[in-house]
Amino acid sequence: MTFKTLDNLDVTGKRVIVRADLNVPVRDGRITDLTRIERLSPTIRELSEKGARVVVLSHFDRPKGKRVPEMSLAPMAAALGEVLGRKVAFGDDCLGASAQATVAALHNGDVAVLENTRFHPGEEKNDPAMATELAALGDIFVNDAFSAAHRAHASTEGIAHHLPSYAGRLMQAELEALTAALTTPVRPVMAIVGGSKVSTKLDLLGNLVGKVDVLVIGGAMANTFLSAEGVSVGKSLQEAEMHGTALDIVARAKAAGCEILLPVDGVTAATLAANVPTTTVAIGAVPADQMILDVGPQTVAAIVAKLASAKTLVWNGPVGAFEFPPFDAATTAIAHAVADATGSGQLRSVAGGGDTVSALKHAGVLERMSYVSSAGGAFLEWLEGKTLPGVAALEG
Ligand code: 3PG
Repeated sequence: MTFKTLDNLDVTGKRVIVRADLNVPVRDGRITDLTRIERLSPTIRELSEKGARVVVLSHFDRPKGKRVPEMSLAPMAAALGEVLGRKVAFGDDCLGASAQATVAALHNGDVAVLENTRFHPGEEKNDPAMATELAALGDIFVNDAFSAAHRAHASTEGIAHHLPSYAGRLMQAELEALTAALTTPVRPVMAIVGGSKVSTKLDLLGNLVGKVDVLVIGGAMANTFLSAEGVSVGKSLQEAEMHGTALDIVARAKAAGCEILLPVDGVTAATLAANVPTTTVAIGAVPADQMILDVGPQTVAAIVAKLASAKTLVWNGPVGAFEFPPFDAATTAIAHAVADATGSGQLRSVAGGGDTVSALKHAGVLERMSYVSSAGGAFLEWLEGKTLPGVAALEG
């Protein structure tokens, strides 16, 4: 994949449109996590310091083509100003006379955020007229929203066909990290995939078995694989209708020379809640009234032993119900082993997905991974082997 970066780009006096992802978590009108804004800020700072007039476009939430006041980007513009330590203007529309006036008022080095692109129905339809109008606000397009690159929208894909287009620093970091992990990895490559449902990660598992040397399957989705092989999993969450699919994935893994690691023991309880009584049992001996809520210590030991010889790891999804202690134990233990192997220089570790990031934070090792993606859905689609329209539009 080839794309242009900000290296050697002269932006002095130019209007640079930056597609950002300001879709940050908000509760009761307050931003609860600034990570995406912090990770976007180097691109904006670099462009501003080089004398560009920076125009930031983003969506927030899903207003479905209508102006929804609670979904305004005004609070994100203020937060961006705080993170950058400088004034950031806000324009209350990304189209029309208002947007043009906001951009016209910018001096070299200034930054403005325009209102939510999804307030216009043309955004999600990738309406050519909207893309043309957005493009007219700038001289250069910089896409720094990897996490929105799986959407073919006017401000992510359409606009790139009208302007010289570049990857911002965050987009560049994501693409380099993910390419190094799956496209040109140092082998052996290991993947840990957890989460509750095979049905939501079917394409991902199907793609990974053809790419990685070892695939660890944890979380409730492991129950579906075990049950498909005729092992009783008590009253554990599982998808009986996915048994055929699970067996097919196992067969494809075998054909591709990918070793699948399923749990050999589990921590079980009668209900899913924090601090309930638990028992640790071998897989195959799960009592009928119990459910597996975490992988057991022997499984952790097997995963850690495999990690010792891995050179690359891709991680998506916790291996247990980590929000409810003590079912966080295995995910936390594995996270520490990954962090140690990464720290020693043996392993390149790439993790992504909302739950995975929360689990790594919970384990206190988020900063000790080689790379943690800022994306949710886009990271999954990348792991599924799909072309991301926002990335494809930058190629060339
Ligand atoms: C995300 O948060 O994953 C991106 O901003 C995409 O949001 P969407 O799922 O509403 O398109």
